[in-house]
Amino acid sequence: MEELYGIIGCPVGHSMSPDIHNQAFKALGIKASYHRFHVEKSSIKAAVEGIRALGIKGANVTIPHKEAVLEFLDETDPSARAMGAVNTIVNRDGRLIGYNTDGPGYIESIKPFTGSNLKDLKCLIIGAGGAARGIYSALALEGIKEADIANRTIEKAALIIKESPAGTKGTALTLTEAEARLSGYDLIIQTTSIGMSPNVNGQPLSLEKVRSGTLVSDIIYNPMKTAFLKDAEHRGCRIIPGIGMFVYQAALSFRHWTGVLPDIRMMEETVKKKLG
Ligand code: ATR
Repeated sequence: MEELYGIIGCPVGHSMSPDIHNQAFKALGIKASYHRFHVEKSSIKAAVEGIRALGIKGANVTIPHKEAVLEFLDETDPSARAMGAVNTIVNRDGRLIGYNTDGPGYIESIKPFTGSNLKDLKCLIIGAGGAARGIYSALALEGIKEADIANRTIEKAALIIKESPAGTKGTALTLTEAEARLSGYDLIIQTTSIGMSPNVNGQPLSLEKVRSGTLVSDIIYNPMKTAFLKDAEHRGCRIIPGIGMFVYQAALSFRHWTGVLPDIRMMEETVKKKLG
């Protein structure tokens, strides 16, 4: 019998997850299909119960349900607990287990750029939403010594640092403070929604003080190269586009469901083709 998978979110119409997961199932000869499920906030509990009742084998969870699903699952993996959010549900014989592959997916996506000295990089995260929280805790679990967070609402940055796993030193900054200190960072990570299609022109802060050679990453993947990344590239920085994080978080979800890591390059090509 064909197994069912899907993504629950709102909105979910533009998600590219069905494209890459269905392609991976096909390539690996797994009889399964992956669908979009538009779920309103008021229906999240019913949707999770539906996964169990219908025997759906696995799901991704996207905006705005990543935090809300947690309380309806039977178990959560330490990665999801640390992040306070779930992006992957595995149905193991009727028990629903929550994971978070966003942070680990981000780490995998930057490794080809950072090499083995990731731990020693001085990092700045811009933004303090759910994505920033996931990346901060993944960096901390990776053993990163220093990571600051800059956000329009500085209290949210301070809270992420305070609640993160021990061992990483960090300071909460305003965006203006971060601009002034930019030359002190080796890796700058843009996690706000500024620059996302269709409002592609903005950027969260000025890169005037950035050092050339600095690694600058943006987790937005549509457009593939944001205004922030274009600016960084003009200033001689090494840029890391967000498509890698998207593909790796998907690949790690796929592995939780099937035990197999799919072909990352093939997934990336599919997303690139769709984005034009
Ligand atoms: P996600 O879960 O995808 O990270 P989010 O929780 O809505 O999304 O977080 C969005 C982030 O983008 C926040 O850090 C937000 O700043 P605030 O915490 O001050 O709201 C940031 N952001 C969004 N629009 C912004 C803008 N116009 N200027 C500065 N920061 C902005």
